Amino acid sequence: MNTVSLIRISSYYGCIAKFNSNPAGDRMTVSLPKLLVPALAALLAVAAPLPANAQAQQPEAHPPLYLGAAWYPEQWPESRWDADLTLMEQAHIRFVRVGEFAWSTMEPTEGDYQWEWLDHAIADAAHHHIYVVLGTPTAAPPAWLTTKYPETLRIGEDGRRDQHGNRQQFDWANPKYREFARDIAERMAKRYGHNPNVIGWQIDNEYARESYGPEDQKQFDEWCHQHYKTLDNLNTRWTTAYWSQTYTDWSQIPIEEKYGNPGLLLSWKHFVSDTWRSYQKNQLDVIRANADPSQFITTNMMGWFDGYDHYTVSQDLDLASWDDYVGEGHLDPYRNGAAHDLTRGFLRKNFWVMETQPGFVNWAPVNTPLDKGEVRAMAWHDIGHGADAVEYWQWRSALNGQEELHGTLVGADGTPVPLYSEVKQIGAEFAKAGPVLAGTSVHSEVAILHSYDSRWAINWQRHNKNFDPITQIVSYYKPLRQVAQSVDIVQPTVDLSQYKLVVAPGLEVITEAAAKNLIAYVQNGGHLVLGQRTGMKNEDNGLWPQREPGPLADLLGGRVDQFYAIDDKPGDTVPVTGLWGATTSKIWAEQLSTSSPDTQVLMRYGKSNGWLDGQPAAITRKVGKGQITYIGAWMDDAAMLNAARWMAKTSGVTPAFGPVPDGVDVYPREGNGKKVFILVNFNKAPQTVKLPSTMHAVLSGKDESTVTLNHYGVAVLQAK
Ligand code: GAL
Repeated sequence: MNTVSLIRISSYYGCIAKFNSNPAGDRMTVSLPKLLVPALAALLAVAAPLPANAQAQQPEAHPPLYLGAAWYPEQWPESRWDADLTLMEQAHIRFVRVGEFAWSTMEPTEGDYQWEWLDHAIADAAHHHIYVVLGTPTAAPPAWLTTKYPETLRIGEDGRRDQHGNRQQFDWANPKYREFARDIAERMAKRYGHNPNVIGWQIDNEYARESYGPEDQKQFDEWCHQHYKTLDNLNTRWTTAYWSQTYTDWSQIPIEEKYGNPGLLLSWKHFVSDTWRSYQKNQLDVIRANADPSQFITTNMMGWFDGYDHYTVSQDLDLASWDDYVGEGHLDPYRNGAAHDLTRGFLRKNFWVMETQPGFVNWAPVNTPLDKGEVRAMAWHDIGHGADAVEYWQWRSALNGQEELHGTLVGADGTPVPLYSEVKQIGAEFAKAGPVLAGTSVHSEVAILHSYDSRWAINWQRHNKNFDPITQIVSYYKPLRQVAQSVDIVQPTVDLSQYKLVVAPGLEVITEAAAKNLIAYVQNGGHLVLGQRTGMKNEDNGLWPQREPGPLADLLGGRVDQFYAIDDKPGDTVPVTGLWGATTSKIWAEQLSTSSPDTQVLMRYGKSNGWLDGQPAAITRKVGKGQITYIGAWMDDAAMLNAARWMAKTSGVTPAFGPVPDGVDVYPREGNGKKVFILVNFNKAPQTVKLPSTMHAVLSGKDESTVTLNHYGVAVLQAK
């Protein structure tokens, strides 16, 4: 870029530049004494060739909590940057994510690499004590690339090649595209891998769009060959005699996304996950080879999004991060909180919120704003669930481009929007509370088990259109969180020994390895609770012949005799009564039976369709010091809360904090000898919370034994 501004020079060398903002805001002019201009131009000539590392001014210590913004310097003249960075600095923004859509600026034509602008952006940010996360730009290949190498463009399910003009138009499996992706990532890593102001890397952006062309098909067939070894094995495990699907050559295996054989569907998803992993590794390897180990490598995932298995893709990363958007409406602390806990479970440690909405988005049916105070409440809810960073997408909209109406922190005129002051408050609070939260993370006595295989399997054959696996998970998560005040969400094959209670709401697919792990957990004294549809399917998405819960049926001393979809028409729900009160089963009801004399019935169905009348709806069995429970009914919130209380009691789970009014969320974090509790009041009315002991209220700086929280009020409390 040859428009290197005098402003940047002035900031490097401590000169004073006076900004005259005009109504366009972005086009800042610099008024400098005329005589200074040649002197600065001379400095510029010296400054421009400096290597990126030398230009970067080392910022001070890393903040334990990072407030950030997605910044797109390539969309603005450099003369504007200092004004933006000044406003960011004033809001306590401590990192910007830069570069993830800037390929056409980094390499405007093939082989012509332009890094000076990025050198300057990183150095300018450093001057304002702002670190940088660099995004590799591969989610938006430049037009010269896709025009010259059309084979790099993805092919949609309808067989049509994508065109230029949108993003994510690349074929994730195409070898040529991978060559280009690796090259640009490697060049970035070589240039910035030891830049002290670059703290980490984001590879690509929100992996999401697979390709369905002949190359992808070929790679999928090879994947099937590698995975199943022989066609006989594949044909048997997929039961391809059904509908004459038997394959006699690997190349006959099609790609199916929705209505294919269940074994084929699941294999395709596993292939998709492995391919995103190798797509990522292609860049990750060259970054790792050239970057300082202190620079983390992540990618921004999408919460509940199930396009690929996030456990597969996360395993090579240093840090999990996700883009947390509410879209329309307001924050649901449980559904959103569970998505945080899910993300924390990918690498089983703290994570980053790499993007979140500054008030509102541009893509929901109605892009309603979060209320005044809600953005702050959400930021603390994020931190409470184990995030160490919250980044707003985006700092400022480009004056043109697809996302002109999205929420920002600065308006089209370059001055703050009303939300800016709330974000500034968050920044000041992060700075204040950061040292207290440093080294702390979330520790839970309760784990919920989650697997993508199970969610896919349910979604492909819901049996009841209302059987949403996420809603099912949250129906367990919410009461368990209310009771225990902290829950982990992990995959079923991890070491579970740290948990007093493990709950599998709808683990429809149970592999042999998972079954072994769960059986060992119970035999070692844990309490395992299985929810509806658990253990129905094996690793090929085929039915376990034991019926649910498949390989756990013997341990349970019981099973599901039959499952029934329940309509939501009035009068069709099924009454259920017993230990957890009187409720109804909606959406789904499983008729259970016991096969062992020591398996107890906890809940029974009342009179309904005849089949279920009087039959067990929930059963439990003690096995040595351990216990296994099966819940076959989809119960309402009140009964689920009673069930969660019972689960906690029988497992020795205690609340992390203590009693709080309904609608006040508690988020415990601990570590480094500290115990910290974040409290957020989601009620409209103020709530007073009696603390279990006198605690230091970090934001107010006082010691308190009770705190009163207004609507969206926040307290950060350190136990003494
Ligand atoms: C994210 C994406 C961003 C931006 C944002 C708008 O999914 O990563 O680039 O498009 O949505 O909400």
